[in-house]
Amino acid sequence: MAQVKGRPASKKAKSASTKSRKNSRPAKGGKATGNGSGKELRAEAVTVVYPVKEGDDVHALEKVSLSISPGDFVVALGASGCGKTTFLNLLAGFIKPTEGNVTLGGKPVLGPGADRGVVFQKHALLPWLKVLQNVTFGLKMQGIPQDKRRDMARKYIDLVGLKDFEQKNIYELSGGMQQRVGLARALTSDPAALLMDEPLGALDALTRDNMQELILDVWRETHKAIFFITHSVEEALFMATKLIVMSPRPGRITHEYELDFCHRFFECRDARKVKSMPDFIEMREEIITIIRGDELEGGNIHV
Ligand SMILES: Nc1ncnc2c1ncn2[C@@H]1O[C@H](COP(=O)(O)OP(=O)(O)O)[C@@H](O)[C@H]1O
Ligand SMILES: [Mg+2]
Repeated sequence: MAQVKGRPASKKAKSASTKSRKNSRPAKGGKATGNGSGKELRAEAVTVVYPVKEGDDVHALEKVSLSISPGDFVVALGASGCGKTTFLNLLAGFIKPTEGNVTLGGKPVLGPGADRGVVFQKHALLPWLKVLQNVTFGLKMQGIPQDKRRDMARKYIDLVGLKDFEQKNIYELSGGMQQRVGLARALTSDPAALLMDEPLGALDALTRDNMQELILDVWRETHKAIFFITHSVEEALFMATKLIVMSPRPGRITHEYELDFCHRFFECRDARKVKSMPDFIEMREEIITIIRGDELEGGNIHV
């Protein structure tokens, strides 16, 4: 498979209304299939208002627009309560927007579907089933015959490095391995997009670093459209091709950055080197300043 060449990082912040640029990188295995691989996931001016019985309604999102194409790795950062999870829930079809719409390949998203795989912070695996059964569970629900679903699952079990663990019980696995199972399960139905809500948030630092590299390799191999939420600025900068910074009250996108640090990693395979590059550190400080301002305003942190 051809190496993807790096390019200079662009640090320009764009206004939320600026149309996102299509990823110009060559497609890598992004064939159109039954579950919509190769399709763009798009939110157009979505607003979410949660009604509150007593007190003011919560404007969780206000006119947020974003498109995620195959091969995009979009990372969302922002102070707690700025609407990141709400936005992911919209993309997943778990909730409906108060205004605006979500489409996949031009068709409205009306609910959850096999064309969007979701990975949560807590793995949400079925603890009484073994690894292989967990990964094939969704396919079983779709009525796919056992032989076929096992073949489909094994491809992704191998991809996430769990080849020798498919007959293990979930409780025998470490936290990082459990998240790999969650990732394999989300990939098994070959979705157009992978939606991840702080998937590495509960892991220890070393495992987290390893998982960042694993997810980047899986993304590069599968050319999925990825939407990934994190609280870690370093993780966001390292992984994103597009970074969006969100602000609360009401939740909106305030900054967008096109990044190439992940491609620099593919070239040198040395994450620490990439994370200590001068322009990486400069951007990290810039973004911490933005988020810290929002958190101080909201009274979430004290310094
Ligand atoms: N089901 C709900 N009902 C009422 N308010 C909610 C609900 N879910 C989230 N919120 C509120 O919406 C805002 C955005 O929440 P969320 O999307 O979870 O933010 P984030 O993931 O960025 O921390 C917060 O103020 C939160 O309290
Ligand atoms: Mg959240």
